[in-house]
Amino acid sequence: MKQFFLSTPIYYVNAKPHLGHAYTNIVADAVTRFHRLCGEDAFLLTGTDEHGDKIAQAAEKQGMSPKDFVDSVSAEFQELLPRLNIANNRLVRTTDDAHKRVVQTFLQKVHDAGDIYFADFGGHYCYGCERFYTEKELENGLCPQHRTTPEFLSEKNYFFRMSKYLPWLAEHIEKNPDFIRPERYRREALAMLESGALEDLCISRPKSRLTWGIELPFDKNYICYVWFDALINYISALSWPDGADYARYWPGEHLVAKDILKPHAVFWPTMLKAAGLPLYNHLNVHGYWLSRATKMSKSLGNVVEPEDLCARYGLDAFRYFLLREMHFGADANFSETAMIGRINSDLSNDLGNLFSRVLSMLAKYYDSRAPEESGKRKADDTAIAQLCAAALQNYVQLFSTMQFALALEALWELVRGLNKYVDSQAPWALFKQGNTARLATIVLVLLTAMRKIALCLWPVMPETAHRMLAQLGQRTQRNSAPVESLEAEITSFEGPAAGTELAPASNLFPRIGVKNLRSP
Ligand code: MSP
Repeated sequence: MKQFFLSTPIYYVNAKPHLGHAYTNIVADAVTRFHRLCGEDAFLLTGTDEHGDKIAQAAEKQGMSPKDFVDSVSAEFQELLPRLNIANNRLVRTTDDAHKRVVQTFLQKVHDAGDIYFADFGGHYCYGCERFYTEKELENGLCPQHRTTPEFLSEKNYFFRMSKYLPWLAEHIEKNPDFIRPERYRREALAMLESGALEDLCISRPKSRLTWGIELPFDKNYICYVWFDALINYISALSWPDGADYARYWPGEHLVAKDILKPHAVFWPTMLKAAGLPLYNHLNVHGYWLSRATKMSKSLGNVVEPEDLCARYGLDAFRYFLLREMHFGADANFSETAMIGRINSDLSNDLGNLFSRVLSMLAKYYDSRAPEESGKRKADDTAIAQLCAAALQNYVQLFSTMQFALALEALWELVRGLNKYVDSQAPWALFKQGNTARLATIVLVLLTAMRKIALCLWPVMPETAHRMLAQLGQRTQRNSAPVESLEAEITSFEGPAAGTELAPASNLFPRIGVKNLRSP
């Protein structure tokens, strides 16, 4: 069995999770489920990033100890996972003892190899980013992320000899066009490397300034820079160096948004190289969800809460909308009106209607049992079988390259094609005429294609796919893939066995009235 490993970023616990965090986790879950559906042994990792200045400051503001504070916010992130139906295999916390030990082993290894040195240092420190900026990286003297004036700090610190590996990294990215994808982020990473602004990485903070972190194994007076600590989660969660999961799943894939491209495209591969570990296979980078065309922020009052939307519209409709609306890599604007539009058109009118009309015909004509095939297929029927094979083929190809919006669009060609097929074949007229042989062929073609649609949708809408399959007479386990190999379903077109019991009715996605609309 082929192994597949995917990680999300580990989230800071200084604020509550919002739509952006939910999106990354839903994409990660859908991709992992997709690989399970293709017969792979797929492992999903998520977690929380709990060290550093920002967290220490947030804890102090709440009048809590850092540990009590991170425990409570990490719990909030963890509670959100089942509510979004995220089937992660592990959740890593950077305050776990096991993670701390791995970070120290990694640091010692790089230190022993001579790639960590101690030096005097003066730099522009941004507390928001928790990192030093070089003169060249600042924009008009300001932090390019936060637009604030960084503080100039002068102190002795430990450095990772990152500059030594930058030419090698540029060559690796050049030679492996999908190492960082989509293309725009690969180019952005190359531009960073070519700019000359990158230097060695300061990887320590003196304890006199910050104590909330992992102590350096070679100097008790320093703790590890939060990004160096955080990136190592991807292998500490797999129990590097000796763990069975590390041997089984590494190297894998990462999923992040564009805000954290640099640490993942530059710091992490050079760290892996310095420690003598294999590099990840792909870094998949998505864009930002905007609200009212700007970045979501508490002060603007435009933060979109995932829980609230799920409660009002249903989790699967929400998951579908996020994957259908955002073109992976580009930014997207979140609009509740657009979401209602998609639910009503794609889910209610197209998909829901298909299931509802076909199952109610079967209830009326066949007492909700699959009939026996008794006539030959005609050209219209083979055209549907071909449309089905093409839709599945495209779906698999597009989904496996993270093009979810296009994959779903390809599948909807089949959904719409089936609705048209019902209209043009008019089974109700055949029933009136008593043409039962032809009628049976048509409903069997429909049931066969509808099952394929349900299978394809399992990664995106697991609960709905489970219900759709149950309505079609296929019992499935809630959290395991409904078939062994989706690829094998592309070429086959086998209908249900005669007598299979079907649901008498289906009401998957009731239409939503616009009166439900509230502004975010
Ligand atoms: N702790 C670091 C990551 C360390 S990974 C070794 C961090 N945490 S974060 O809480 O700020 O999470 C950033 C991530 O949250 C983004 O990369 C993205 O996955 C998700 N998003 C946060 N806001 C988002 C949007 N508005 N839109 C889409 N995703 C966003 O950075």
